Amino acid sequence: MAIQWFPGHMNLTRKVITERVKEIDVVIEVLDARLPGSSSNPLLQELTGHKPRLQVLNKQDLADAARTPLWLDWYNAQSDTRAIALDASEPAPTRRLIEACKLLAPNRGGMAKPMRVLICGIPNVGKSTLINSMSGKRQAKTGDEAGITKLEQRIVLADDFYLWDTPGMLWPRIIVEQSGYNLAASGAVGRNAYDEELVALELLGYLQKNYADMLEARYKLGLDNERIAALHDDELLDAIGRRRGAMMGGGRVNVQKAAELVLTDFRAAVLGRITLETPEEYAQWLAVGQQR
Ligand code: G4P
Repeated sequence: MAIQWFPGHMNLTRKVITERVKEIDVVIEVLDARLPGSSSNPLLQELTGHKPRLQVLNKQDLADAARTPLWLDWYNAQSDTRAIALDASEPAPTRRLIEACKLLAPNRGGMAKPMRVLICGIPNVGKSTLINSMSGKRQAKTGDEAGITKLEQRIVLADDFYLWDTPGMLWPRIIVEQSGYNLAASGAVGRNAYDEELVALELLGYLQKNYADMLEARYKLGLDNERIAALHDDELLDAIGRRRGAMMGGGRVNVQKAAELVLTDFRAAVLGRITLETPEEYAQWLAVGQQR
């Protein structure tokens, strides 16, 4: 199954970014720390060229604490890129963001050369929550200011630090099939763009291999990790449906309901803190995707 989604405002967003980036010092991309690679927008690099980039792994409270450092190292090893991890409970995200941007553009700062930053992110990564917590009342809905389109917002985070926000943007094509599943599992993709059963089965397939103990802890299947890993994914979904009472007539499991249960549990981190991809796995998926 290939999940494809092309929201109507994408072309407009692309235009706004292309224009704005000319006067930008650092591009911030907000990512979902549970799926950093998949929640990155492949188009952004194309649109922003060689501008220094800060990757913000947001929702770190939901992600596997052992895996987030792997992703930070991976991004920090790239030239002109830095990465930090955040979550909505961070008391002072602005300070950390400003510090990271200053490292990327050390020649900017002060009233004469204020830092100009563009913040982007696909829907649901928590960009609005982050901006709201940083901006408080200082957020200016624009269209009121010359040179800033109605699609943008300029937020003054400090006297010499301006943040431009663009509306949520998605990719025209998800190049890696697994990314489509991970995005759907995370809730970033509209519900009518995917089949919940397929997405839940893919998710379970990954959890069986990587987080079997969490499946046992939540669903009390009475199986050790090895036996959970050995189940066929639809057997596992069936077993979970039975345990959770997702039944229909004739003693059969209501697979749709069971799939919804699993997805809801994952999204709310009821299963535990999970990251659906490592940098190595993501790089492998990309390599396979590019061969196609
Ligand atoms: P967006 O602008 O990137 O589209 O995302 P938005 O801020 O709207 O956040 C999407 C959902 O993610 C929201 O939940 C929000 O509360 C949640 N969220 C944002 N940042 C974090 C974080 O760091 N940690 C956790 N655990 N959740 C975060 P929602 O269920 O859609 O809405 P609501 O519960 O806030 O009403």
